[in-house]
Amino acid sequence: MPRESSKTLVVYFSLEGNTRLVANELKKRIGADLLELRPAKAYPTGGFTKFLWGGKSVLMKETPELEPFYLDLSPYDTVVLGTPIWASSIAPPLRTFLQDAARSLASKRVVAFACCAGGDPGKAIEQIQELANTKVRATAVFVDPKKGRDENWNAKLGVLAGAIQARLS
Ligand SMILES: Cc1cc2nc3c(=O)[nH]c(=O)nc-3n(C[C@H](O)[C@H](O)[C@H](O)COP(=O)(O)O)c2cc1C
Repeated sequence: MPRESSKTLVVYFSLEGNTRLVANELKKRIGADLLELRPAKAYPTGGFTKFLWGGKSVLMKETPELEPFYLDLSPYDTVVLGTPIWASSIAPPLRTFLQDAARSLASKRVVAFACCAGGDPGKAIEQIQELANTKVRATAVFVDPKKGRDENWNAKLGVLAGAIQARLS
């Protein structure tokens, strides 16, 4: 028998580890399974180049090819989507995933979280809602948790984990 908690899958992209940290914490706290999206051609991580390439990729609404992964969504009732905020938007690798998986997500409870540097997460959650073609049931925004810039991150994580487990709606 699969445990109740094994019915949550966290699908995320992370360039510099903040989103990965939150995903790993959700795995620890509620036993979620993880799927990390990796672009076939990695984005640069250094200095200004990352903003240039990442920003361009957002503006062009790119759907970069991802490294292949095996995914059977059928055991999961909840899918948590995690992304860094890039230029007030979701990061393009999540766009690729949502474009391909939108139909399968329609029957799932979808929860979303984002990591940002303190800017307005803006339309990112709305974008997820639109691209997944379903209502996002709970959301959380973290400010660079890996760098220790979000003093409330533990509390926010607790609320997010609670909302996932409550399965209220
Ligand atoms: C290309 C690019 C664009 C970004 N744009 C924004 C932004 O518009 N607003 C913001 O608050 N942070 C922005 N950031 C910062 C990241 O969202 C933030 O550092 C996040 O925690 C990184 O998550 P990660 O470590 O999982 O990649 C941007 C970062 C990159 C690389």
